[in-house]
Amino acid sequence: MSVTILGIESSCDDTSSSVIRDGVMLSNVIASQAVHEAYGGVVPELASRAHQQNIIPVVAEAIKRAGIDKSELSAVAFTRGPGLMGSLLVGTSFAKGLSVSLNIPMIEINHLQAHVLAHFIKETPEDDHAPSFPFLCLLVSGGNSQIIKVNAYNDMEVIGQTIDDAAGEAFDKCAKVMGLGYPGGPVVNRLANEGNPNAFTFSKPHIPGYDYSFSGLKTSFLYTLRDKLQEDPDFIEKNKQDLCASLQATVIDILMNKLRKAAKDLNIKEVAVAGGVSANSGLRDAFLDHAKRFGWKVHIPKFSFTTDNAAMVAITGYYKYLDQQFCPMDAVPFSRVLN
Ligand code: KG4
Repeated sequence: MSVTILGIESSCDDTSSSVIRDGVMLSNVIASQAVHEAYGGVVPELASRAHQQNIIPVVAEAIKRAGIDKSELSAVAFTRGPGLMGSLLVGTSFAKGLSVSLNIPMIEINHLQAHVLAHFIKETPEDDHAPSFPFLCLLVSGGNSQIIKVNAYNDMEVIGQTIDDAAGEAFDKCAKVMGLGYPGGPVVNRLANEGNPNAFTFSKPHIPGYDYSFSGLKTSFLYTLRDKLQEDPDFIEKNKQDLCASLQATVIDILMNKLRKAAKDLNIKEVAVAGGVSANSGLRDAFLDHAKRFGWKVHIPKFSFTTDNAAMVAITGYYKYLDQQFCPMDAVPFSRVLN
């Protein structure tokens, strides 16, 4: 019998719903929230209200586009955390209502596990691009930077993570001080393509193991701007491309150094990248370069699966369903990573 999972994602500012049947995506609907642009960042209360407005039409559209009837759903999978509490509550509450009304089980999903399992979404039954176990996954988003050893669908170990800022945060905060708007990562990427990555040198952390740190880089970037602006008030405007290229190169260097070390120590050559920052073209190039230099088999997701989406929630739900991992009706969202 086939397994049909409805996924719901509402952890931040995208309301998304997807239907996946036996691992194959039938629909993936995403409603983004433009309301935050004016504020230079996501405003939690506004995000929560927008989710409330979007959730019913988005879920209805996902079921419609999948071409199924809701009575065919085997289970509803929802993002339980980490994320914004008010946003998560909307998806969680909606999933509970659906579970009761359709009399189907609920499956709680960890947003970070979902980013990793996005690699297993099949767009057609013939898709055959999934990593084989065990593999390493560099998970880089606005809120997280982690190296994860993935042993099986439902067996992952975080072997390294940031002790302060995330890589996406470093991009966003440095972009903000240059007046490049929010989120700054994609703008830095675009400008970096026209700049010299060796024009400026910013500090890199020296911490043991596989952990990351980006706060020193951020401070060093800020101090460079402060000093140079004293000499020339138009410094940023004149050097935007070179600043972005040097910043991007430093972030990528920090990320790849630790990933390389982990791959070597654990003798794993199957390496994936996930999360919003994996849209970065420099990081994608670095992965392709490592594939050539070190014989890695690399897995880079499609752009549409790098940012928040419910297809990754539904695919994770599918594998949890196969393991009969359901959750009780009193499940509550969590905002921070549970260790
Ligand atoms: O995974 P994601 O959509 O959101 C979280 O759940 O955190 O990641 C968003 C992050 C933001 O920091 C954004 O600036 C960054 O991903 N980002 C990029 C690029 N596209 C998105 N950073 C660098 N280069 C990009 N092309």
